[in-house]
Amino acid sequence: MKPPLSRADATWHPLEAALDEFEPGFRIEREQPPLHFPRVAKRTADIEPFRVMAILARARALEAAGHDIVHMEVGEPDFPTPEPIVEAGIAALRAGHTHYTPALGLPRLREAIAGHYGEHHGVAVDPARVCVTPGASGALLLVMAALFDPGDEVLLADPGYPCNRHFARVVEARGIGVPVGPETAFQLTAQLVEQHWGPRTRGVLVANPGNPTGTVIAAAELRAIHAVVKARGGWLIVDEIYHELIYGKAAPSAAALGDDVIVINSFSKYFLMTGWRLGWLLAPPSLMPAIDKLAQNLFLSAPTVAQHAALAALRPETRVLLEARKAELRARRDLLLPELRHLGFDVPVEPAGAFYIYAGIDRFGMSSEAFAEKLLLEAGVAITPGTDFGSHQAERHVRFAYTTSSERIRVALARIAAALKPLLQR
Ligand SMILES: Cc1ncc(COP(=O)(O)O)c(C=O)c1O
Repeated sequence: MKPPLSRADATWHPLEAALDEFEPGFRIEREQPPLHFPRVAKRTADIEPFRVMAILARARALEAAGHDIVHMEVGEPDFPTPEPIVEAGIAALRAGHTHYTPALGLPRLREAIAGHYGEHHGVAVDPARVCVTPGASGALLLVMAALFDPGDEVLLADPGYPCNRHFARVVEARGIGVPVGPETAFQLTAQLVEQHWGPRTRGVLVANPGNPTGTVIAAAELRAIHAVVKARGGWLIVDEIYHELIYGKAAPSAAALGDDVIVINSFSKYFLMTGWRLGWLLAPPSLMPAIDKLAQNLFLSAPTVAQHAALAALRPETRVLLEARKAELRARRDLLLPELRHLGFDVPVEPAGAFYIYAGIDRFGMSSEAFAEKLLLEAGVAITPGTDFGSHQAERHVRFAYTTSSERIRVALARIAAALKPLLQR
């Protein structure tokens, strides 16, 4: 009989805690390190796991026990990759495209990506400035490795995409979270950048639109941020992974600000290719030799089959299918947002893009993790606690991902309303 688990247990594992309720004493089998086991690098202690994984494990356990769970915690679209992309991937495999490509990517794909900026953003981009990467994640790691020395600091929005801080940590740099709120649409501004720029600051990384808030930086504000960063001799990195998923008026790409701006993007979200692991970056010509060297050493190349498939993703006939999916996502947002507000969630700034709603939960008098757990257990709705995205007012927020059908969103809303009723009557 295994001893009961407690958080004080040195071998406690978050998934075990999540599953404990359903299978008391459940343990994830793992080898106990021998006493002489060499130590692991200190940086691993600074890299936090996603708290939502514990929610997900619990949701799966509930499903296994026969409960119906609406998944609104997942940060990827529920739609499958469109057929023309899949077919291009299969054709690439059949044609034997199973070897490495050049580290910067297939020349044809680099040209197509550069062409995408000309066609959709009115910006002429030299294909030589494009590096194809294993997801935006690969691009972020590559950029951090290319730009920052140990001890250098990069400013990030808090709340923001949590991995950014960890990418910085891996290269011994520091991601500095700048608290942001509704007054700046949960985004950095030129003024905040000026205010937080310190002697070791070397750059600023923004996501436009952002995760977890889906809010957008106004074009004039982004220009002003660029000017401040440039005046200080720093780097501006703009993660545009959700940029094609802006539902209102299209915003200009940061590529239009000048070729000194590093732009990151991906085939994951708009192009519905998360599992293909493909993204890209645009960097200034002077940085490309360093990027090339690092890409050769870190990755050798991005996945070859995915690169061939991505050529089909950029074709006009595929775009028609992708735009239809985008319209579905927008309809989901338009369904969910007013209903959440009606239920008492505080969403002060309209999420103009991505597929997230970052909602304030003050009205319900609970911390974000307890609240997420309550919704899971009492409403069968899985969401992400704000604590996954930073520390600034994280306990007061949760993130809803509308990566499930409108029908399921309606089910979720009805169940949430029932679960919250007793809280609102207090
Ligand atoms: C803001 C942001 N950047 C980058 C990524 C990484 O995406 P991928 O590596 O799938 O392209 C994500 C994924 O959720 C994200 O939300």
